[in-house]
Amino acid sequence: MRTYIGVDLGTSGTKFLLVGADGSILAENTQTYPVRYPHSGWSEQDPADWFHAAMRGIRALLEGQDRSAVRGISFGGQMHGLVALDREGCVIRPAILWNDGRTEKQTAYLNEVVGKKLLSEYTGNIAFAGFTAPKILWMKENEPQNFARIDKIMLPKDYLAHRLSGSFCTDLSDASGMLLLDVKNRRWSREMCAICGISERMLPRLYESYEVVGTLRGEIAAELGLSASVKIIAGAGDNAAAAVGTGVVGEGGCNVSLGTSGTLFISSEQYREDKVNALHSFCHADGGWHLMGCILSAASCNAWWSDKILQTQDYAAEQAGLEEEMGRNEVFFLPYLMGERSPHNDVSARGAFIGMRPDTSRRQMTLAVLEGVTFALRDCLEAARANGMHIARTKLCGGGAKSPLWRKIVANVLGMPVDIPQTEQGPAYGAAMLAMVGCGEYSTVQAAADAVVRVRETVQPDAAVSARYEERYAAFRALYPALKGVFPALALSGK
Ligand code: XUL
Repeated sequence: MRTYIGVDLGTSGTKFLLVGADGSILAENTQTYPVRYPHSGWSEQDPADWFHAAMRGIRALLEGQDRSAVRGISFGGQMHGLVALDREGCVIRPAILWNDGRTEKQTAYLNEVVGKKLLSEYTGNIAFAGFTAPKILWMKENEPQNFARIDKIMLPKDYLAHRLSGSFCTDLSDASGMLLLDVKNRRWSREMCAICGISERMLPRLYESYEVVGTLRGEIAAELGLSASVKIIAGAGDNAAAAVGTGVVGEGGCNVSLGTSGTLFISSEQYREDKVNALHSFCHADGGWHLMGCILSAASCNAWWSDKILQTQDYAAEQAGLEEEMGRNEVFFLPYLMGERSPHNDVSARGAFIGMRPDTSRRQMTLAVLEGVTFALRDCLEAARANGMHIARTKLCGGGAKSPLWRKIVANVLGMPVDIPQTEQGPAYGAAMLAMVGCGEYSTVQAAADAVVRVRETVQPDAAVSARYEERYAAFRALYPALKGVFPALALSGK
C-alpha cells in the first residue's frame, strides 16, 4: 500500500504519523524540544531543533516499515512564528513563536496608527501580538542589524520544507497568520510589505495546502533511506491541518482543538470578515476559508497545573470522580498564562484562581483549570455568534481531547454534541491527508475527508449540567473585565 508521512510541528514537540492510502495509521513517533522564555511573555525556539527532530522522527517512524511505499510528506505547523534567514541560508535569530507577547507596542501601532480599518481592508484581520508582521516591526526597531540581514522570511513548517526540499514556499492557511496576506484574494499584500519595510521578494511563494512544492533533496533522501522522488506537499497551519484531519472542510463545520493553544475553527466556502475583531479570518487548507478564535493556553494550563504544581502526570487519577461536580464549582480559573489572544487581545493578562474558601480542595482547583480553559473557548463561540454564525455541533481533537471528563465539560459548556474522531492527532493526520491529495490519491481535500475520517464517539450535553454551566459562564465572563486594569501592574518592571 502507498504511504504518506504527516508531520505536526508543534510547540512542545513534533509528531510524525505514517498513514496508509486507506487512512490507516501504520506508525507514529514524537520528538520533543525546549521552548525558551528569555523574558517575561517572550517565547522562542531554535529552528535547528525542529530540523533535527524531523530527521530523528522520520527515521524512527520508518523503522521496520516499507520505505519504498512512501510517496509524500506534508506538514501542519505552529503558526505565526517568525523564522528569518540571511543570504547564506543561515537562521538569523531564534524563531519568535505564536504565543510571544513582546510586540505590544508594534501591535498597538498597527491597530491604532495604521488603523484596524486599513488592516482589515489589506488583510481581512486586525493585528494580534502573536502575528508575524508585528514581530518583523519589533525586529526592525530592536535588532536593526538582524533586520538588515533578512533575505527570507518563513513560517516554522516552511523551514522544514525548505531544509528537506530546498523550496522557498508557504501555504495560504499558514500565510494568513502573518498579517501580510490579502486573505480574500489569496495573494501577498503589497501595502503590508511596505508598512513592515520588507520586499515581497523576501516572502515565500504561495501554494494551496495540497499542492506539491518539490521533492526530497538527494542527500536528505539518502539519510532517511527514502527515494528522492518523494514529494513534499505545502501543508497547512496546524489548526487548518487539524480541521482537515477531523473532516472539518467545506461550509459550516466546526472543530475545537485542545492543544498547547486552544482553538475554535469554523470552515467556510466563502470569505468572511470578523465584525467584532475577536476572531481570525484565514484561508483554509481545502481551498476555502475559515474563522478561528485562538486562546493561547489550553491543554498547557492542565500540564502546568498537574506537572509543575501538583507534580503528577497521572491526569486520570486527578480527574477521577470530578464529573459529579460539573457546573457546581465555586472556584474559577482564568487561563491567561501567556496573556490572551481571542477575544481579549491582551498581552498583559495573566492566569488567576478566584473564589477560594478555607475548604477549597485540590480537586476543585483541577476542575476549575479544565473549566476555565473551556469557558475561554466559549468566549470564542460567543464571538462567532456575534458574527451571526450558527454552530450546532463540533469535532474535538488535541491532547486534551483524551480526557473523558474534559470532553464532557466541552459538550456542556458549549451546549452542543461533540464528535470525537477516530484519531485525536488532528494536525499530523490532516497533513498526511494533504500529502495524499498532492500525490493524486484523492482528487480534493473533501474527497480525502469523506474517505478516511471517521467519528468514534459523540458526547451529548446534559440539559441540567449545561444549565448550571450557563450560570457559571456568566460569572466567568465578568472576571476578565474586572481584572483587566490590574494585570499591567502585576509585572515587575525588570529594573
Ligand atoms: C493559531 C495559533 C496557535 C498555534 C499553535 O492562531 O496561534 O494555535 O498555531 O501551534
